[in-house]
Amino acid sequence: MNIIFIAAEASPFAKVGGLGDVVGALPPALANRGFSVKVIIPGYRSTWNYKTEPLTQLSNLTVTLGNRVVASQVRRWQNPAQAQHEVYFIDNPEYFGQRDVYCDENGKPYSDNPERFILFQKAALKLIAETRWSPDIIHCHDYHTALIPVYLKKNLAQVPPFNTLKSVLTLHNIAYQGDCEMQLKEICDLPEELFMPMGALEWYNRLNPLKGGIIFADAVTTVSPTHAREIMTDEELGAGMGGVLANRPTPVLGILNGIDTAEWNPVTDVYLFMPYSISNLAGKKVNKVKLIEILGLNPALESRPLLGIVSRLVEQKGIALLIDGLEKILSLGAGFVILGSGEQNYQRELKRLANQFSDRMAVKFDYDNVLAHRIIAGSDLFLMPSRFEPCGITQMYALNYGAVPVVHHTGGLADTVIPWDGKDGNGFAFREYRAEAMLKTVCEALQVFEKPDEWRKIIINGMSADFSWDRAATKYIALYENLINNKI
Ligand code: ADP
Ligand code: GLC
Repeated sequence: MNIIFIAAEASPFAKVGGLGDVVGALPPALANRGFSVKVIIPGYRSTWNYKTEPLTQLSNLTVTLGNRVVASQVRRWQNPAQAQHEVYFIDNPEYFGQRDVYCDENGKPYSDNPERFILFQKAALKLIAETRWSPDIIHCHDYHTALIPVYLKKNLAQVPPFNTLKSVLTLHNIAYQGDCEMQLKEICDLPEELFMPMGALEWYNRLNPLKGGIIFADAVTTVSPTHAREIMTDEELGAGMGGVLANRPTPVLGILNGIDTAEWNPVTDVYLFMPYSISNLAGKKVNKVKLIEILGLNPALESRPLLGIVSRLVEQKGIALLIDGLEKILSLGAGFVILGSGEQNYQRELKRLANQFSDRMAVKFDYDNVLAHRIIAGSDLFLMPSRFEPCGITQMYALNYGAVPVVHHTGGLADTVIPWDGKDGNGFAFREYRAEAMLKTVCEALQVFEKPDEWRKIIINGMSADFSWDRAATKYIALYENLINNKI
């Protein structure tokens, strides 16, 4: 089976959040199972740090954007460890090569993002046509690539190799739909009826690519079983798409993400101060002590619980709840470290608290993968108060690193964190999305922290969980096979 992934991010070349993790790790997991997987992403600035080769036969890949002809080039990266896994970069200096994924240096989304991703999708389809690849499956991710299923059904239904393949659209975050000015239809080259009121791409007089993708993809998935139920039944979590999802012939399938255990494994992690394992947890304490030291926190915290957060600082992640409850948590004598970047008002509030409690709270407003590893290894508890969380990857890292998660019971957090009941469980969860509920559960966790035998059991439960991608790959393969055999 030949599979093509098309996405805006793929780790390690370009990663903003979990989407990058998934598109970085699922393709090699599928390739390890004997399938050929090609990934296509834009060639952003960061992608030039990797050893790639130009596709010389495609030195001029042109597509139209309205009355302009835009040329791109293509580079290829071959996974040295897996011959069946390649990544292709669509290069265009103006739109991608000198820029980052979505936002400029000040965190402001590029104003031409809709145009950038329309260009990218057209170029990706042209690449497939010109190279004469014969994919069986095209797997698209989020709104940035949601127009692909629309092109396949509306413009390419009779055109080989597109006429026989099946499309999958995975919703990593249905809240981001890419809706934009209707006038962008002029550069889409799609039938006018799609943009009319009630048309597949029309949404309150705006152009909504995600809606079109949901309607035309052969299968729609999301990244955890609980979130699949949530977006089909809860109007708010479905971000207005509940009706569109309900009209599909098949329900949204929820497949829990995995984690890249080559990068995230405390036994082999090169970023840690000392590796550790279930059978030898001594290294975990060393990582905590060193983390406290590099953050300049009070050494007395070594014997106190240390809470960590690594997150985008946006509304979805429950940062407002955190800010409401943080003073109380700090007053209980716990330490706190937060790594993240995002909204300025959250950063301001967090900075204020860090100044007030400078001996026990550290904040880093940055994107820093090495520090992310060190925080997850060095923390006793890992907090994720997300309002909603389609899957969440970091709580799985935390579980495998023995940083006990305290989470809001939602989406993938509900599917991975089993609340401690005094005998069994791997973390703590609060159901009501309120600061008081979060605080009550953090307090409960801090009490259990004082009981070393129970705490050790919780840590061991988390560290023994298997979140490898192989498990998820099995489910995606079954889906692809069912699609190809017309079983769904
Ligand atoms: P989302 O995709 O919604 O941001 P996930 O939990 O699925 O949430 O994935 C977030 C990913 O991004 C994880 O790999 C996490 O470690 C990483 N990440 C988020 N913020 C930072 C940061 N400031 N520095 C380093 N890594 C980060
Ligand atoms: C999105 C979601 C996150 C998920 C990630 C990867 O960014 O917010 O919950 O883990 O995609 O699927």
